[in-house]
Amino acid sequence: MQYQTFDRFYGQAKSLRSVFDRRFKQPLHSHPERFQWDYWHVPGEYTLLRTPAYTYFPKKVYERFHRHLVAWGREHLGCHDISPPWLSCYIEGCRQEPHQDVPHGPLAFVYSLTPWKGRPFTGGETFLKPNTRIAPEFNRLTIFNPAIVHGVRPVKGTHDPRYGRLVVHGWFVNPRPFWVGPLRIEDVRQALEEDLQVRPNLNLGKGFLSLRLDISAAGHVQQTPRILVNTLQKATDLREFTVALKQLKFPKCKTASRLTLPFLIGD
Ligand SMILES: [Fe+2]
Repeated sequence: MQYQTFDRFYGQAKSLRSVFDRRFKQPLHSHPERFQWDYWHVPGEYTLLRTPAYTYFPKKVYERFHRHLVAWGREHLGCHDISPPWLSCYIEGCRQEPHQDVPHGPLAFVYSLTPWKGRPFTGGETFLKPNTRIAPEFNRLTIFNPAIVHGVRPVKGTHDPRYGRLVVHGWFVNPRPFWVGPLRIEDVRQALEEDLQVRPNLNLGKGFLSLRLDISAAGHVQQTPRILVNTLQKATDLREFTVALKQLKFPKCKTASRLTLPFLIGD
């Protein structure tokens, strides 16, 4: 997998977007909230308007979104946190030239607040080399392996921030096990030690892998672990690895547990 997209990601996307629309509604009105933007230009690399997302939005509006994003990352990726996200706006000429983000985190994210349908500009897609383009549809979360060469196609056709490409972006960081259920931390730690005995004999290449294990009350992994995210490159033994994880034994508990296991391999 080079990337994954999740549409209709956040139930209150419109409340985030409306903050931006309100502030740019009247170009002739000056107020302090208009002056929060950095015109970030690194010749040959980046050209865009940016501001820290957590100070741009009203506290309550931002924190609700932040909590949703972090909780989603823990459950679906096994990443415990996110880097402080940027809010970026792309108008005429804005772009990101091909680059790699190493070592920011195992997964980059782009969450779009762009009114994509009916947009007056061309470009603005995230691209991944060699030939992938991802449209930042409104309320879409895109995650991708930031070690792959990537960028943003130049926006052409609008000088008006209200109609440009608007995204919140950053990195999912701190991969570590996340679970719901009565398992104790020592149980998970012990299971992972068993995993470490299996892994040196397998070729898992390089990248990030996250799996879901459903563990019965009796302590058995109920079916072959489901791969949630896989950015591994040149892994030949992934199937063997999931089969080995299926054999893990956990202590008996009163009820079942659901475990998200992330692995950062080859760094
Ligand atoms: Fe990047």
